[in-house]
Amino acid sequence: MQARELRKGIEIIASVHWERRLFDALIPLPDGTSYNAYLVHGAERTALIDSTDPELAGELFDGLRQVGRLDLIVSQHAEQDHSGVLPELLARYPEATLLCSPKAESLLVSHLGVPAERLRTVADGERVDLGGKTLQFVSTPWVHWPETMCTYVPEDRCLFSCDFLGSHLATTALIGVDKGRVYEAAKRYYAEIMMPFRSIIQRNLDRIAALDIDLIAPSHGPAYDDPAFIIEAYRDWVSPRLKNEVVVPYISMHGSTARMVRHLVDALAGRGVAVQVFDLAVTDIGKLAMAMVDAATLVVATPTVHLGPHPAVAYAAQLANLLRPKVKYAAVMASYGWSSKAIEQVAGMIPNLKVKVLGTLLQQGQPNAETFAEIDRIAAEIAQAHHDDADVAG
Ligand code: FEO
Repeated sequence: MQARELRKGIEIIASVHWERRLFDALIPLPDGTSYNAYLVHGAERTALIDSTDPELAGELFDGLRQVGRLDLIVSQHAEQDHSGVLPELLARYPEATLLCSPKAESLLVSHLGVPAERLRTVADGERVDLGGKTLQFVSTPWVHWPETMCTYVPEDRCLFSCDFLGSHLATTALIGVDKGRVYEAAKRYYAEIMMPFRSIIQRNLDRIAALDIDLIAPSHGPAYDDPAFIIEAYRDWVSPRLKNEVVVPYISMHGSTARMVRHLVDALAGRGVAVQVFDLAVTDIGKLAMAMVDAATLVVATPTVHLGPHPAVAYAAQLANLLRPKVKYAAVMASYGWSSKAIEQVAGMIPNLKVKVLGTLLQQGQPNAETFAEIDRIAAEIAQAHHDDADVAG
């Protein structure tokens, strides 16, 4: 796509990947994505910040057609969707020096075969003068790799944030996309990519809060001309605050687990607790991840397959364990035909979740009055725990 002006002397070359529906062969992209590269033109030198995914390399090189010389290429993150075309960029622009954080150096060499002699590492806070425009590097590690950094241009109060604060959203709009739509896409992105790094993100937010920012330009999705919008959203997501809400991923083979889940939903709703239910046979796991961003409780419900949980439930439990949501309470319900170790196996799959287990329920065959009474008891425990917890919104 051709370069478009974002601020005077600052252009974006957005490679919009409308068709992409899966990232890392794992993360659903219902709205596609974009890989944004930025040109910063100083009076003396021109820099390119980030690049694009190799699949859309042509989009970037089209946008660079009018650019005769690139003095600096900034790699804020070594993952292939922003750095995969660096070897070709360096070959096309032999005068360019590649700037990256110290931790990125070995990653760029090992993952992409970037020639080490073309690299120069930059320190946190280091400034590079382009002539009337300055690149100031801000170390923001673990959003979401160890080497990630942001770049601040103080003359325009622009922060280039790469993955951090971004969204998977294919659009031709640069700024001012409907806030509800961007919030949803950014929250999905946070849930799938950033959530495991909550405490580090808090520190990174504090670091960028010290800057005077007028525009945040991530390398996925549209830019934010109201930086507080996305910064406050992130502050909320990483805070200890929880919703009075229960997330229930489940699957049912012959209906018993589904009946237990329906009863739980009624029992919780009747006690003023919101519930989000995900039938894992049809669930978009990105939606499940989003629901786990701020729910107080996770209840996993599964039938038994060869003694263990249904594989779809095992997958969801493993995903929750990887994403480490701030959920504080949990329960597990399982049904079975003749024998089951599903409850202990599910519990063993989520060691990263620092949860208090408020109940387990193992049901042979169809649920009965006793089962439903036990589900009522679990619902009451959950409602009481939420009520007594100062972090859970009333
Ligand atoms: Fe958008 Fe971590 O790459």
